[in-house]
Amino acid sequence: MCGIIGYVGPKNVVPVLLDGLKRLEYRGYDSAGVAFLHQEALQIYRSVGKIKELENTLWGKELGGDIGVGHTRWATHGRPSEANAHPLVDCTGELVLVHNGIIENYVPLKEKLAAEGHRFTSDTDTEVIVHLIEKYLEGDLEEAVRHALKEVSGAYAIAAMWKGDPDRIVGARSSSPLVVGLGEGEFLIASDIPALIAHTRNVLFLEDQEIAVISREGVMITTLEGDPVQRTVERIPWSPILVEKGGYKHFMLKEIYEQPRAIRDTILGRYSLEAGEIYLDGMEEVEEILPLVQRVVLVACGTSWHAALVAKFLLEELCRVPVEVDYSSEFRYRDLILDPSTLVLTISQSGETLDTLVALREAKRHGCRIVSVVNVVGSSIARESDGVLYTHAGPEIGVASTKAFTAQLTALYLFALYLGRRRGVLDAARVQELLAGLLRLPQLAEETLQSDGVIERLCHRYAQHTDFLFLGRGIHYPIALEGALKLKEISYIHAEGYPAGEMKHGPIALIDSRMPVLVLAPQGRTHAKILANIQEVKARGGVVIAVGTQGDTDLFSRVDDYVAMPATSPHLSPILSVIPLQLLAYHIAVHKGCDVDQPRNLAKSVTVE
Ligand code: AGP
Repeated sequence: MCGIIGYVGPKNVVPVLLDGLKRLEYRGYDSAGVAFLHQEALQIYRSVGKIKELENTLWGKELGGDIGVGHTRWATHGRPSEANAHPLVDCTGELVLVHNGIIENYVPLKEKLAAEGHRFTSDTDTEVIVHLIEKYLEGDLEEAVRHALKEVSGAYAIAAMWKGDPDRIVGARSSSPLVVGLGEGEFLIASDIPALIAHTRNVLFLEDQEIAVISREGVMITTLEGDPVQRTVERIPWSPILVEKGGYKHFMLKEIYEQPRAIRDTILGRYSLEAGEIYLDGMEEVEEILPLVQRVVLVACGTSWHAALVAKFLLEELCRVPVEVDYSSEFRYRDLILDPSTLVLTISQSGETLDTLVALREAKRHGCRIVSVVNVVGSSIARESDGVLYTHAGPEIGVASTKAFTAQLTALYLFALYLGRRRGVLDAARVQELLAGLLRLPQLAEETLQSDGVIERLCHRYAQHTDFLFLGRGIHYPIALEGALKLKEISYIHAEGYPAGEMKHGPIALIDSRMPVLVLAPQGRTHAKILANIQEVKARGGVVIAVGTQGDTDLFSRVDDYVAMPATSPHLSPILSVIPLQLLAYHIAVHKGCDVDQPRNLAKSVTVE
């Protein structure tokens, strides 16, 4: 997820671009750049790191002009570097482009354009767009953009500027957000409202397959086919601070609601339903050994360790390979029995967790190949792995991990299908069937979020309790652990997750009306057993809140409160069942007045041992 901005108007454009990029920094901050027209010259400055680094680069330069574009990057293709930073330029150096999104068909497009003589200077997917526009540019930037985008598939929000057409910026969107700001004699285009709010509250939201041209005279919106579009101007009522969070009270809630997009973006461009195939870039160095792997060891911390526990079920069932899971902080002190036939899979949102990084190095020392599931491109764990599977969740600001977790589960599911194919355990037809369920997931996640109101009302009944027990069986046991972690880390309430089948071996002694028991009980192989566990709790005066499948009236009739989620396959149901638990933890923490985004004693990335 990146941030883009364009401006044309009476103000000095560079400060407008920099301020806008700072307000978009939550969307990505591994590199940034600006391009602007000044004294008939197109000037481009880019830098690695946060916007501050770009400001340092610009310091002392002669800056001017009143039209320009800017970009703050969250890398998906191509490591954070000056060469991969936006704005990207065409072969003439007179056409620039900034982009947020993922171009699915960039590889064939890049090959074709290079064969036609275009010289590429970056590893990004984005660069194919600017060379496509160059290819069709015959004096009219808007028409060239229109022509180029008809060859592009995937998600994009772009802003393009050309020295030969110094009064206009051409924007366009497909799946990635783009909003136009209408000021007094000044017009802006940006990924999100925070970049505009200092200049205007009057905005137009672009829809998919639409093009917007902004100039000093105003804005024109057309469809990709060229038909004019009439769009109502909307006025943004939010305060600037609310605007930063997209209208949500906390980054955590915003990120919970971003999960459908994070799931979809993690899937995008990595499958062919028709062929029943999975295509994972970043696996080139390990692809040939995957069929020979005798054992997989998963290593992670915290929420990522819970993702590893879910992956154990996926890999064992879909790839028929023995799997072990270990905390990074434990793994590295074991007298390890590892050899090159073992694949070590590390999971880390930040890619900087020191315990996991050291565990990775220990595994390498034993001759193991490393594959890592990481959310930050170019992070330490990513750089030291043999294969990397990036989650495309975008920056996760809230300390409590939410969208990164469901993106990890999505990526691990894709990896299981990929490994199962390479090991000959899954055929194309079976992958087609499993993929069909995955492609429905973003919509099912949207539906699950609709239970937010029910959950918020639940919290007023349970927020005063000081202890919670979370129960789950099978693939939902890790989700019970995750629900307990979410609650304790942001509301400071004691909570523990337990395998429901273990109740009779101890925890049942704890049961009474003062300790709510939250039970993951979606339809599945162990459903009858879970109902029996619920009976055990109720028979001892316990209070039960269930997360179950829509329509499961038998379950809902047996519990004190419940949250219903859409039906999906057992493999995918953890990605949905965790969402009500995230919302439960969030609303209880808010009810208690806790600092949800920055809970006490915690850091977003634990880079110490
Ligand atoms: C999760 O909500 C916590 N913030 C924490 O457990 C986190 O998952 C853990 O520190 C691992 O971080 P990583 O995924 O960046 O390696």
